[in-house]
Order: sequence, then C-alpha cells, then structure tokens
Amino acid sequence: MLFDTRKSILQEINDKELSARGITLLIKRDDLIHPEVSGNKWRKLRYIIEHFKQSRNERILTFGGAYSNHLLATASACHRLEIPAIGIVRGEELSEEANPLLKRCQELGMYLHFVTREEYALRGMKEYHEELILEFPNTYIIPEGGANYYGIIGCQEIIGELPAFDHIFVAQGTSTTSCGLLLGINGQQLHVVPSIKNYDSKKEMSILLSKSGIEIDLTEELLNGIQVHEMYHFGGYAKVTDELIDFIDYCEKKHQLTLDKVYTAKAFYGLMQEIKKTDYNHSTIVFLHTGGLFLTR
Ligand SMILES: Cc1ncc(COP(=O)(O)O)c(C=O)c1O
Repeated sequence: MLFDTRKSILQEINDKELSARGITLLIKRDDLIHPEVSGNKWRKLRYIIEHFKQSRNERILTFGGAYSNHLLATASACHRLEIPAIGIVRGEELSEEANPLLKRCQELGMYLHFVTREEYALRGMKEYHEELILEFPNTYIIPEGGANYYGIIGCQEIIGELPAFDHIFVAQGTSTTSCGLLLGINGQQLHVVPSIKNYDSKKEMSILLSKSGIEIDLTEELLNGIQVHEMYHFGGYAKVTDELIDFIDYCEKKHQLTLDKVYTAKAFYGLMQEIKKTDYNHSTIVFLHTGGLFLTR
C-alpha cells in the first residue's frame, strides 16, 4: 500500500478517573499514517485514486481553502504517484507564499489556481466542473474534502482495524469520515462533533450518503442511531479560544497527544466533556485522530 495504515496504532489514555469508572479510552492514531497524507486523508484518497486510474484521465483537480489539509494530502499523494495535480484555492488575493501549507503544495508540484469566493462557491456544481474541464482537459475532479462514495468506503475500513468497542467519536467537516464510520459500525454508537457552527450533521450526512447511492430508508435508519454533539465548535470553523489552547497544551503534556485546533482538539474536548456528563461506565470508547497536524509541527 502506498501509505501504510498499519502505522495507525491504538493509544490507550491512562487516567485514574476513567479507570475508576471502568472506562477504556483508545485513540486510533490515523495521524501517524503520514505527515502530509495524514489522518482521514489517505483513507479518503485511496479509493478515489483507484477510481481516477480507471477513468483514464491525466490529472487530478480538487478544491480547498488556504489551510486545507485535503489540498496538501492530494498534492502529496499525487506527487508520490507522479500524477499532475491542480488545486482550486478559495481567495483570489492569496498566493503560494500565503502560508507554509500552500507553499508545500506548490513544492509538491500542485498547480494552484486562486479564485474569488464567488467562484469557489460553485465548487459543487456540475456546470462549473464542465467549465473547469474545458480549461484543464482530461481532468478527474475530486470534491472538496474528498467527499464522495470512494472517500466514504475508504473511511469505512477504519472500523475493521478496531478491537471491540462501544462508542466512537469523530470530528466532522464534510461528513465523509463520519459517513464511512456509520456504514462500518455494527451496533456501536457513533458520536459526531461538527467543527462548524450551525452545521446540520444529520442533514449533511444524509445528502452525502444519498449522493453515494445509499438508499434513503437505510440512511434514515442509520442516522437515527447517531449522537450529534454540536456545542463544541468554539465559536465556529477555525475559531479558537484560550480554553481550547489550554486544552491542547494539557493533552500534549498529560497524554503526549498532539491535536489540531480546527478539528481534533474540538472533538476530543467534546468527548472529554461528554464522559463527565454521561454514564459511559464500563465501556470502551474510541476517538479517531483524523490528523491535520502539518501546520502545528
Ligand atoms: C484533520 C481533520 N479532521 C477532521 C476532518 C473532518 O472530516 P470530514 O470532512 O470527513 O468530515 C477534516 C476535514 O476533512 C480534517 O482535515
């Protein structure tokens, strides 16, 4: 395999209060898969790239904001596979020099095309894709965040790498990872923690699952069983508070666990709060570390 998912170990969190309640807390360290194609990124890209190869296109194009982990992961995977890559970046005022992540994408050979916010808003539209293909012929388009059927089935595989557990917590952006976990679980409880304020998790998951060909009745049945913890966005997407920064420092020192500010710190904070409030006694809880650490290193 191109990027080795066996590097994703399970880390047990040692904590007296958890032990006293009979709670086993395990971190699935997908962040260790690769420094750039990290966390949920290789999970999503693995089958997307297989599909690209079958499509006989010549290059890959995808979308992202200035700090997009998905853009970096796509640039890095395409570099390794010698696939030409184009990144459509939100913000016409930006350049490759805007931050280390964009600079790294360029170093990896990704051609960065900066567009206005208005143009970027069209990123999911078929007509816009047709225009992009006229401009960049023989191009395979990956949706923002790898949010498609192939991204989902790659994430589904994570469940097969876990020991017996009762609950699994995951951060949410596009919902691709959580949809994959939802299709993989069998009786366990999925908890999603959106990083975006006012994000309608169940609706977004339902849209993505139906676009991926999952029947609406099954989708509804599966989504009925999940728990959404929507109060841990810390003010909204990419917003940070002192409390969140303190929590990140605490996790680093106490558990040698590095978390990113945008997704994993918020989701892990949410998990720890829920553990305080809820009777999870005598259960095994898994937290999926979805990566996102390039800019924190
Ligand atoms: C580090 C990290 N964690 C979690 C997520 C959220 O995953 P998803 O978009 O699949 O919901 C993302 C975004 O893709 C991310 O970059």
